[in-house]
Amino acid sequence: MKPSLVASIVLATLGAGLVAATCEAASARPWLDANRSPDERARLAVAAMNTEEKLSILHGPMPINFPGMAPVAFPAEAIPAAGYIPGVPRLGLPALFETDASLGIANGFDARPGDVATALPSSLALAASFNLPLAQATGTLLGEEAHAKGFNVLLGVGANLARDPRNGRNFEYLGEDPLLAGLLAAEEIHGIQGQHVVATLKHFAINSHETNRTTLDARIDEAAARESDLLAFQLALERSDPGAVMCSYNLVNGSHACGNDWLLNQVLKGDWQYRGWVMSDWGAVHGVDDALHGLDQQSGEQLDKQVYFGAPLAAAVAAGKVPMRRIDDMARRILRSQFAVGAVDNPPALSSDRQPDKAAIDYKAHAAHALEVARQGIVLLRNEGALLPLPATLRRIAVIGGNAHVGVLSGGGSAQVLPSNGPPVIVPIGGGAPFFDFRKAFYLPGSPLAAIRAAAPQAQVDFDSGSFPADAAALAAVADVAIVFVTRHELEAYDVPDMRLPNGQDETVAAVAAANPHTVVVLETGNPVAMPWIDRVAGVLAAWYPGQEGGRAIADVLFGAVNPSGRLPVTFPVDDAHSMRPRLPNLGANPAADVGVDYSEGADVGYRWYLRHGVQPLYPFGFGLGYSSFAYAGFDAQAGSQPSVSFTVTNSSQRAGADVPQVYLVSVGGKAEPRLLGFRRVQLNPGETQAVRMNIDPRLLSHFDEAGGRWRLAAGTYKLVLARSALDRVMERDLRLPARDFR
Ligand code: BGC
Repeated sequence: MKPSLVASIVLATLGAGLVAATCEAASARPWLDANRSPDERARLAVAAMNTEEKLSILHGPMPINFPGMAPVAFPAEAIPAAGYIPGVPRLGLPALFETDASLGIANGFDARPGDVATALPSSLALAASFNLPLAQATGTLLGEEAHAKGFNVLLGVGANLARDPRNGRNFEYLGEDPLLAGLLAAEEIHGIQGQHVVATLKHFAINSHETNRTTLDARIDEAAARESDLLAFQLALERSDPGAVMCSYNLVNGSHACGNDWLLNQVLKGDWQYRGWVMSDWGAVHGVDDALHGLDQQSGEQLDKQVYFGAPLAAAVAAGKVPMRRIDDMARRILRSQFAVGAVDNPPALSSDRQPDKAAIDYKAHAAHALEVARQGIVLLRNEGALLPLPATLRRIAVIGGNAHVGVLSGGGSAQVLPSNGPPVIVPIGGGAPFFDFRKAFYLPGSPLAAIRAAAPQAQVDFDSGSFPADAAALAAVADVAIVFVTRHELEAYDVPDMRLPNGQDETVAAVAAANPHTVVVLETGNPVAMPWIDRVAGVLAAWYPGQEGGRAIADVLFGAVNPSGRLPVTFPVDDAHSMRPRLPNLGANPAADVGVDYSEGADVGYRWYLRHGVQPLYPFGFGLGYSSFAYAGFDAQAGSQPSVSFTVTNSSQRAGADVPQVYLVSVGGKAEPRLLGFRRVQLNPGETQAVRMNIDPRLLSHFDEAGGRWRLAAGTYKLVLARSALDRVMERDLRLPARDFR
């Protein structure tokens, strides 16, 4: 017999043995049978668990010991990262290994020394691409890396709306509009869960500030919340069914989000019929009663005053204060999500020494994806006299500021990643309210200076730190073009006090612009910033926190290897005085003080507020320039039970490029009612035309009736526009719709 045949017989016999063993296991443990539905499997597993086992999966620690904090014990299998929840080995149910992921697979505290990951552009940069398939591919990348590192739960995607341009965490979110944020989050979640990793939609809800985040009471009209922040979550949930939702630190209308019956029981699990589990944010649980109000799991338990979901919850069950059926429901939700995404059937592969198979990660391919997101996320805000793209004939270029000789800045906090392309330069910031060691600025390698030199090999490229405006101006004066990098480090647990750039950078830009009319500014920030020098510079790019390949992406846009196509996912107000919310004077003075914040703008977040109040922003939501031009035609709107719009887009230039046509509601019966109804990123060759058709979600045309628990679409004339941004309207159509109520 040929050796290969022998081998196949041996393999077949072994395979048959395995199948038999699996079948046997499945009949003894029917919840391990992948042919059954996730609901049935979860029900069967819970029925097989004793009370102690059920309670054991409802809480767990952050498996990291921090200096200065009481040490916590966790089993050897726990991966040092954000969270660990024990499994039930007797029943073949795995533990939960949880990692943060807003910027890539996090390793912020260097808890796994040297464990690198692809450091992606911030979520706000992804949002600026307005590109749904790109969001899904980003989720797939995150899921793949998480799985290969041994994780089965990813603590992302963040879908809070950007209500305040000073919120330290807006870079982790997907902008100010519920449709944009909801659709992008859904695609990312699909990508993550396709890799058998549970995605966690966070932070539920109205977590719009970081300073005072644990004591802040977000006061908001309930119906307005349903039409804004909650709508983003609802859209994401119904399209992608994330396994978990993370409730936030803050209070909402008087009760903590993680113990908020209205948010968790009535809206999320009641009205939206959410079937997954609600996990707490780390240190956001306030008592056993939170279990009655909808919280299913206590995360990072050592950060709370007590391990409430440990002995106290067991005692409450024994005393009949928390019914056993609620415990069953909590356990069932946690298990159902794991079965639904295939986390139990496809556990992370472990090598012979029981280490995750990190070698499986294709960092090169993932870096190419990070580059693509950075390229598509960069927004060209200003390009006077078509200075950009820069020509290959430049002889002398001055690069100034932003530590552009070192790398690109990243946002800070639990999302921090150790990049895969080399060690970052880490600058401890010091000062401020200490929160672990979030106050460290990471400069990711891949310096923009090196990328500019590579893009312009014929030019002399000099660098100045930008520390002294006079030095920077002197260098700029002798250059053909001056490129000024400005940065602002923004981070979790801290809001910046105002919209300005720190460390005298405005003075440097002003001095450089006065010395050279060909000045281009590159912003590396987590939010809009005020640009008092805007009229004096020729060009501005918003690069956000562009990730480990950001230096190259910036140079690609500057020199035209890439035609910019990003659009603003947030309004850029002129300055603090002209922004939607004044800086809250009561924030920050005492991080532990109880503060109430009235979100009186209600559902009018971002562009909705600016339009309704007639306040002119510096750059509107949806705005972004490119090196091509596009023409729109044939805008039509169709009524009926599923309203829709159609139009064509033509690339009317000589350059291939992408455009993002947007459709907005402007008014109902003549009354201003600005809302984004749809968008589509289209890639077109010169002269090419594409027909676009979009269905309109009727919720975007309606108001929520909180008392009746339903959406109400009023009869009337709806004015719709096809636009290039929230302000740049190209064509309009009226749509007559009859009244309609729906849930
Ligand atoms: C953050 C969460 C994060 C968790 C675990 C908290 O501080 O708010 O977003 O997932 O820590 O690291």
